[in-house]
Amino acid sequence: MPSEKSVFQPDGALFRQAHVSSVEQYKEMYEKSIDRPEEFWGEIAKEFYWETPISRDKFFRYNFDITKGPIFTKWMDGATTNVCYNLLDRNVRNGNGEKIAFYWEGSHPDDYSRLTYKKLLEEVCKFANVLKSKGIRKGDRVAVYMPMILEAVVTMLACTRIGAVHSLVVRFSADSFAERILDCEARVLVTVDGTWRGEKLLQLKAICDQSMIKCAQKGHNVETCVVVSHLDRVTPPQGMQYNSNKTPMTPGRDVYWHDAVPQASASCYPEWMEAEDPLFVLYTSGSTGKPKGVLHTTAGYMLYAATTFKYVFDYKPNDVYWCTADVGWITGHTYAVYGPLANGATSVLVSVKFATGGRKSFGCVPKLSEWFRTVYEGTPFYPDNDRFWVVVDKYKVNQFYTAPTAIRSLMKFDDNLVTKHDLSSLRVLGSVGEPINPEAWHWYYKLVGKERCSIVDTFWQTETGGHVLTTLPGAVPMKPGAAGFPFFGVLPVLLDESGKEIKGEGEGYLVFSRPWPGLMRTLFNNHDRYETTYFTKFPGYYCTGDGARRDADGYLWVTGRVDDMLNVSGHLMSTAEVESILAEHPGVAEAAVVAKPHPVKGECLYCFVTTTASASFDGRLVAALKQTVRERIGPFAQPDVVQEAPALPKTRSGKIMRRILRKIAVNDRDVGDVSTLADSSVVEMLFATRPQGA
Ligand code: PRX
Repeated sequence: MPSEKSVFQPDGALFRQAHVSSVEQYKEMYEKSIDRPEEFWGEIAKEFYWETPISRDKFFRYNFDITKGPIFTKWMDGATTNVCYNLLDRNVRNGNGEKIAFYWEGSHPDDYSRLTYKKLLEEVCKFANVLKSKGIRKGDRVAVYMPMILEAVVTMLACTRIGAVHSLVVRFSADSFAERILDCEARVLVTVDGTWRGEKLLQLKAICDQSMIKCAQKGHNVETCVVVSHLDRVTPPQGMQYNSNKTPMTPGRDVYWHDAVPQASASCYPEWMEAEDPLFVLYTSGSTGKPKGVLHTTAGYMLYAATTFKYVFDYKPNDVYWCTADVGWITGHTYAVYGPLANGATSVLVSVKFATGGRKSFGCVPKLSEWFRTVYEGTPFYPDNDRFWVVVDKYKVNQFYTAPTAIRSLMKFDDNLVTKHDLSSLRVLGSVGEPINPEAWHWYYKLVGKERCSIVDTFWQTETGGHVLTTLPGAVPMKPGAAGFPFFGVLPVLLDESGKEIKGEGEGYLVFSRPWPGLMRTLFNNHDRYETTYFTKFPGYYCTGDGARRDADGYLWVTGRVDDMLNVSGHLMSTAEVESILAEHPGVAEAAVVAKPHPVKGECLYCFVTTTASASFDGRLVAALKQTVRERIGPFAQPDVVQEAPALPKTRSGKIMRRILRKIAVNDRDVGDVSTLADSSVVEMLFATRPQGA
């Protein structure tokens, strides 16, 4: 594999017209964004509509130093605007009403739809009026549990229009969803009756019902549940059927989308929001196990989503852009919905997570055929392993944005599946979610990008709202595996354990010394936790929880989490969360979970379990534990390995040494210093009893 010395230059011909076309231009713009943020962001803000103008003296204020007082960030304080107005009405008024906002495809290519800016605005206004008729007002929370369908986008923007705060949840269990509804005290829930995945029927409404029962038991009643009748418009797998009358509907609370939306008015005056009013809450795993409700606010997030989208993807008005992430993740929020629409872009939205079907309400031609018979696991393998490239070719996609785990899962197939398609429209290839390994980078660059496209390895987090480290396409040379340099307005710093800054080459904690407009402002209803999680370890800095290395050329290489977090196929979860679920099983006395490298998922869960005296460790227990984690957190969290651990390696003070468990998980006997262990023979015993094939 090439070393970090390999540097790939952007293709001069392809990027001659790029927004930023040289390192010098990047540096100049970057310096302006740091030295004169009011001017830099103020110029960008002029492209948007402000009901109350931005006042210069209150443009940007913050405190990142916990020793000096509460942590806060404020951008454009006092100005008012509406994000939905800027995304839709502004584009319609600029003459782009007939422009396609989204090309949508279900799992089957015959199942498609498209939505113009004008039509999207109408649908959004209608649903906004429905929400209003249910008593939803500015500041109220709306929980959303939907597959990748256009109604999910409509719901998000309808909330935004009236100042309600949306909170989307994807593929989490009823328990996890209930926990999130309770935390944000959602008054309304929006979902679908269900969806087919392969031959499996996922009854999403039934999951929501379980969640709502759990919420009611804790004293919180969801007042309205809007249900998109989705199964009716798709053909079930052969030999299977679903009787839509079976969808459990609670009178008085539950209402069908198709009963409420068509008759609602297609005009809805936007609610003018303060710049720092909440826009949405999105939950992310916390290292203590309890999810954190990351809160993003109005004006700063809008500017940052718009600006990162424009520059990092080098977006131009006639481009077609495709982000494969589900709208329910932060990547979907910022780069499938807010960023593209803020730029008036045309995007492709493909249902790769859930199998979905015909789009009667948006004028789709539902021609569903045999496809349901194929077992479809929510990955880009249907109807064949070249689905990504078929879509790129079909829509002449210019910017394609996906995750390393997806790239690795596709690399194993014949190259012909890529090369037989015309991918010459591609200009920028994005990667997100975890460090991209050089092998995957080269495959992406050579086979998909034909050594012409720029790869943008975008490092960011739910908390950062948008990209914070990346190379800019057309401007900055690429190094496989390096995230590169800070985006405009971002000031990264590397610190050692004692909090001393590492200047020049070196490795340390990745922190930021100043907020950019898109940084989260707080954790919902829990500012204390916000301050302790992100701002206490190193006063004066926002702490990412990731490590990074700076090389001799100044490139930053993100090395992964430095806390007890796991990253499975780009999904973050905490070891504590999984451990506490395992330990709830009556047969389990203690559990410890570590990450083990996985060729496709990046990392997988390796669990060590000490049984109670009366329980026996057998296949049934292992299956039950795997199932429990799956049910409680979500399918992506299912452990790959569960090993019996009659004892765990602990220090004399009782702390589990995960460093050693990580070595056992990969069968690496170079465990280092074990002198602090209470009983070092445990290590040898655990090596000797590793499960076969683990
Ligand atoms: O560990 C980093 C990893 O994903 C974490 C953020 O996860 P989440 O909030 O779910 O957001 C994912 C999508 C933005 C980070 O703390 N991560 C994300 N992108 C990269 C990455 N690690 C290395 N390189 C990346 N490009």
